[in-house]
Amino acid sequence: VEGLPLKGKKVLITAGPTHEAIDPVRFLGNRSSGTMGFELAKKAADLGAEVILVSGPTGLSIQHTSIKLVRVTSAQEMYNECHAHYPTTDIAICAAAVADYRPKQVAKEKIKKEDGGLTIALERNPDILLSLGESKAHQFLVGFALETQNELENAKGKLQRKNLDGIVLNSLKDDGAGFGSATNKITFIDKNLQIKTFGLKTKPEVASDIWEEIIARIHA
Ligand code: C5P
Repeated sequence: VEGLPLKGKKVLITAGPTHEAIDPVRFLGNRSSGTMGFELAKKAADLGAEVILVSGPTGLSIQHTSIKLVRVTSAQEMYNECHAHYPTTDIAICAAAVADYRPKQVAKEKIKKEDGGLTIALERNPDILLSLGESKAHQFLVGFALETQNELENAKGKLQRKNLDGIVLNSLKDDGAGFGSATNKITFIDKNLQIKTFGLKTKPEVASDIWEEIIARIHA
């Protein structure tokens, strides 16, 4: 992709994990590094977009005049920020590894250890991507899928159920692909179920490929 094909476009990207508080010092989380979302944001800005990057806790930072980084902690905070920006968004990509569950109650004080086990009751977090699909107007909406079985079928199902325009399937079958890795191997599926598979690449390269697929479709 060359030039500034995203000039005048507002892009919303979610990145990283979410942390769900158990008590003042503990949380439930996951190993997402945030790299894929940050690379997508950088690439979008380089292609001319104004970017809102809503990120859960990561060790990453980003300096770009066209990127506004909004740091959040929990899925509920990420949900609120996304919906605040969504009405004016042209393209949204949900690359965050959002916790599906959160502790039903957050203990006010640090939980003391006692003899025996401990049970923590969980409740569902909102599915941010699903909610964006439900309130979709003019936006081009892209999600990620990380599947371990029936990859294509599950990704297609997710694309349709969440009312997406495209979905990026992360292959876990290949070494060096996905979570915590510097590289990734993806398949892009659009809403017409047109499928494109890519080889193992670095995450900056993967970000370019994803933008190329999106740009081809928004200008089509
Ligand atoms: O349904 P599943 O969690 O596999 O879908 C993954 C996609 O949905 C990713 O794009 C992820 O960012 C998004 N997601 C979300 N909010 C959730 C769970 C997933 O935005 N609570």
